[in-house]
Amino acid sequence: TAVLGVLASGRGSNLQSIIDAIDIGRIKAEIAVVISDKPEANALKRVAELGIPAVCVDRKLYDTKEEFEKALVEELEKHRVDLVILAGFMRILSPYFVNAFKNKIMNIHPSLLPAFPGAHAHRSVLEYGAKVSGCTIHFVDEGMDSGPIILQESVPVLDDDTEETLAARVLKVEHVLYPKAIALYLEDKLEINGRRVMIKE
Ligand code: GAR
Repeated sequence: TAVLGVLASGRGSNLQSIIDAIDIGRIKAEIAVVISDKPEANALKRVAELGIPAVCVDRKLYDTKEEFEKALVEELEKHRVDLVILAGFMRILSPYFVNAFKNKIMNIHPSLLPAFPGAHAHRSVLEYGAKVSGCTIHFVDEGMDSGPIILQESVPVLDDDTEETLAARVLKVEHVLYPKAIALYLEDKLEINGRRVMIKE
């Protein structure tokens, strides 16, 4: 079975959706390690209770981004990770990290990229007045939220939406789409062709 390493900074609901998909056999993989850059991340608590190794690589304890990322890479290599899953990981990774796992890092972003990259996607969508939003699963390249897109799904933006109600609508879709993208990858059904990711049948 394939070995996943998950990086998460916060709540960990996407992590949970991946754990659930593994449990019911929709994703044929094991999570070897969950790493957070923040000691207080709820994602770490979630997995510690499940017996999955939960590791904090605390950004505050490293002088430079390079040293921090070296520690991340070491931890992932120690667990022989085949695919790195960013699930609510709120840091931008440098080319050093991206090249260490070339085309083997996936991210989820709560907007329809390339619209509204970065933090606070929902706020930006509402401020802009967009009528649709959604989520994007993509491979990670050296830019911010700019790598080849694997899957996207839209949701409507409603007149009375707040950041919270929009986030909740998008999150429901996230929890379906991320396990789907990971399963496609592990079944070898994704083919990267320049910027385009083809889904083989
Ligand atoms: C998710 O909505 C994810 O798409 C978003 O953070 C949330 C994490 O929730 N990620 C980003 O905004 C990345 N820039 P979770 O911790 O419950 O999975």
